Amino acid sequence: MRRIDYDTEQYRDYARGRAFTERQLRAWIGAFEAVLPERRPLEGLDVGSGTGRLTPALARAFGPVTGVEPSIRMRETAQERSRHPDARYVAGLAEDMPVPSAGADYALMFLSWHHVQDKPRAVRELARVVRPGGRLLLRANFSDHHPMPWWLEYFPRGFEVDTALFQPLHEVIEMFTSGGWRVTDFGTVTQPSSGTRGERLERLRLRTLSFFAQLAPDEVETGFRNLERAVAADPDAPVPALSEPLLTLERRP
Ligand SMILES: C[S@@+](CC[C@H](N)C(=O)[O-])C[C@H]1O[C@@H](n2cnc3c(N)ncnc32)[C@H](O)[C@@H]1O
Repeated sequence: MRRIDYDTEQYRDYARGRAFTERQLRAWIGAFEAVLPERRPLEGLDVGSGTGRLTPALARAFGPVTGVEPSIRMRETAQERSRHPDARYVAGLAEDMPVPSAGADYALMFLSWHHVQDKPRAVRELARVVRPGGRLLLRANFSDHHPMPWWLEYFPRGFEVDTALFQPLHEVIEMFTSGGWRVTDFGTVTQPSSGTRGERLERLRLRTLSFFAQLAPDEVETGFRNLERAVAADPDAPVPALSEPLLTLERRP
């Protein structure tokens, strides 16, 4: 995958382009609740927290949370837009986090795992910061468990290019199970509709998906032309809900 530098691309429009509706946010928090311990507060890490799309909701639901994010610009946006007294943001990578050992009850990686360059090191670092018995919530796509959004078929090589961004599930599981983790759950979460197809097209135009950076400019142009034609036929049709994978791991004692 072409590496994305969030300090020069996407950061300006990410919060708008990738915004969750309240219903979508509730669905994700409910899914995390189902695989986390019941006691409160829980100390959390949002690793690759970006613009803080989920961080304040994690703080509200579970307790104090630290967003770890390498991009200065993404972090600045989070500090401006995603404030909560129990949410803080620090510079760091999944491979190297400025947080104490065994201090977190859980770590969430929401669509950030595929950006990690040194994955074996990240597996070890996550095992250092999450306490024994604690959880890692890996909201990732996998090349063999890949949700297909309705708009992807309009882009040349769309599914093939998007799928190539991700590892197969067994490869991710092997990395973690040989690095101090065990799988406790794998399932899909139904992410409710984000609104109408017309609204989705407007947000896609902001290109705040790493997928677009993998295509040639003429493929992007052709894709948007195809998609515009399809959406024009019924712009008010609701976007379908999507089943998205969530892998939960436990830090072995
Ligand atoms: C697609 S965004 C997801 C942001 C946020 N989790 C969300 O769902 O809105 C991916 C984020 O991962 C961050 N990232 C890139 N490399 C990383 C690494 N090695 N460790 C942690 N985060 C990383 C990027 O800077 C970016 O903010």
